[in-house]
Amino acid sequence: MASAASSTRPPRVPRAFRVGSLGWGRRSPRRSGRASTPPPVASAARGPHAVRVPLPASGPLAPPADVRAAVDRWPWRGGLEPCGDRPFAPIPPEAITGEIPSDLRGTLYRVGPGRCRVGATRYAHWFDGDGQIFAFAFGDDGRVSAGAKMVRTDRFVAQEGSGAPDRIAVRGAWTQASSPLQNLGRFPTNPGNTAPMAHAGKLFALCEGGGPIEIDRETLDTIGPHAFEGEKLPMGFSAHAKKDPRDGTLYTWGLAAPPAIGVVAAKIDARGTVLKTAPLPLPPFAFTLIHDCAMSENYLAFIVPPWTLEPGAGMVGALSGAASFGHAFEWRGDERGATLIVLRKSDLGVVVGPHEIHAMSTYHFAGAHEDPSDPEDPSDPSDPLDAKKTLKIWVNVLIGSRPNLEARFANMYDAEWAPDGYNLLAEYAVNLEDGTLESRDLLVPRASDADVEAAAATATSAFAFDGQLPMEFPVAAAGGDASGGSGPPRFVYTLGFSGRGGGYFDAVQRLDVSNPRGPHHARLMPPGVFPSEVAFVPKRRKDEEKAEKREEEGYLVYLEYDASRHASDVVVLDAGDVAGAEIARVALPFHVPHTFHGEFEPSER
Ligand SMILES: [Fe+2]
Repeated sequence: MASAASSTRPPRVPRAFRVGSLGWGRRSPRRSGRASTPPPVASAARGPHAVRVPLPASGPLAPPADVRAAVDRWPWRGGLEPCGDRPFAPIPPEAITGEIPSDLRGTLYRVGPGRCRVGATRYAHWFDGDGQIFAFAFGDDGRVSAGAKMVRTDRFVAQEGSGAPDRIAVRGAWTQASSPLQNLGRFPTNPGNTAPMAHAGKLFALCEGGGPIEIDRETLDTIGPHAFEGEKLPMGFSAHAKKDPRDGTLYTWGLAAPPAIGVVAAKIDARGTVLKTAPLPLPPFAFTLIHDCAMSENYLAFIVPPWTLEPGAGMVGALSGAASFGHAFEWRGDERGATLIVLRKSDLGVVVGPHEIHAMSTYHFAGAHEDPSDPEDPSDPSDPLDAKKTLKIWVNVLIGSRPNLEARFANMYDAEWAPDGYNLLAEYAVNLEDGTLESRDLLVPRASDADVEAAAATATSAFAFDGQLPMEFPVAAAGGDASGGSGPPRFVYTLGFSGRGGGYFDAVQRLDVSNPRGPHHARLMPPGVFPSEVAFVPKRRKDEEKAEKREEEGYLVYLEYDASRHASDVVVLDAGDVAGAEIARVALPFHVPHTFHGEFEPSER
């Protein structure tokens, strides 16, 4: 319940629960606790999408025959393959097409699984892949440099030192070590594979399976686990820790240290001191996976899907080490809903929840913002929290079933993707006074079949849609006037899946939230090209021009994996014209294995 509620007012009657007023789209198939048969999808790329990927035929990066065959079927899978360590080095000018903008200065960091197999042995989940950090520097002199290095986690070092190239040496969250003795009594290890984070003057590789791992900015070498000062942090540290743009305060959360079971939130100041920790109000004795949350000016909002590990034989096996930890999670959406929790940032106090809402699955959020109170329902103007009555949470909602999604993640080399493996971006409105979920609507409607079919007929180009493509990796620009205002952003940028035949992400789309029915714009990749999550980098303007700065005045910087040359490009687009001509492209001399998340750190000048 809302702690800021006034006791003298009658409770509000929640507005009608709206589903589909903007077109919630096609209904999801019934979800069950186990992976069900997914809808039929193509078994291989065809026509122009059947790109031959020039994987190395020999040497340490040459794939085993089964991987070669898997990549032959779907070229996007070439981006799962390792690239090895690539020392940070200048890129020759002839690799640049277009012109690097003079106000784009800084470094793009990306983190992802740098390898999904050890020799010929595949990890049992994409999220178990050993982490790698990639950096691309836009130098002050206009020159660019790039490099990538494996994160030397404890488990990576142990694996490399094991002398058994095809055996898993260390227990991962999903993947058991090849030797049972290496599993029993051991908690899963941290692969450091999910996101970079710059904080308190340091650079880290993050993964919720453990604490932050410090990385040397200059060399990308691994310095090692980092312990922040102050209160003791939980064992886990979210890869989606949220930094308040106003004061640099960082909010994170993670699994409590065993043998405790639970999730603990934490608040860390800009200098790296842990100010406070507080447990999230979740059911005891059950493991949950809280991958992301939504931060507004005053709140942190969590929506926890009913994907849990609960007491029983599965938990005994997972905790003892006798069986996989991650594969013991089950979908409980037939029994219960998702859990909504809202914390106050100031003291990590619980404002809403735990409140059960409908069963849904999500991995990512695109932020949250607070609506002021209704003028006819005056609040206490002296209380900044009481003046905000509705929290609007922008959340990805999985189209299909979570078990089916996890089954794909568990075997990416054989995964085949269809819209049910992606999401639609929705807005959930939470009444902070009584804790109810007042409404949930798609942020913009789902793109019509006609639009998608028209896109399918287009080999490569820009496209204006009447809705959103199935999506992942939402990135919102700063809201309001783009100068730190707290209003909702107008635009959200995501990766999209058009279903044109590439079998994986094949679009970057810009959704205009202020105009739900569109048009929205998508940039469609040529066959054999697969984008990664974009970074939104605000343009730099002279001070006198700031008042006129518009939200879309920024660059989108992202990686494209080009299967036809098994190499990646760094691409710069104008965020205001994602479907227009690209501003610059830099061809890298290596490919960057598909990454999860990134951060652009502007240079100081
Ligand atoms: Fe994520």
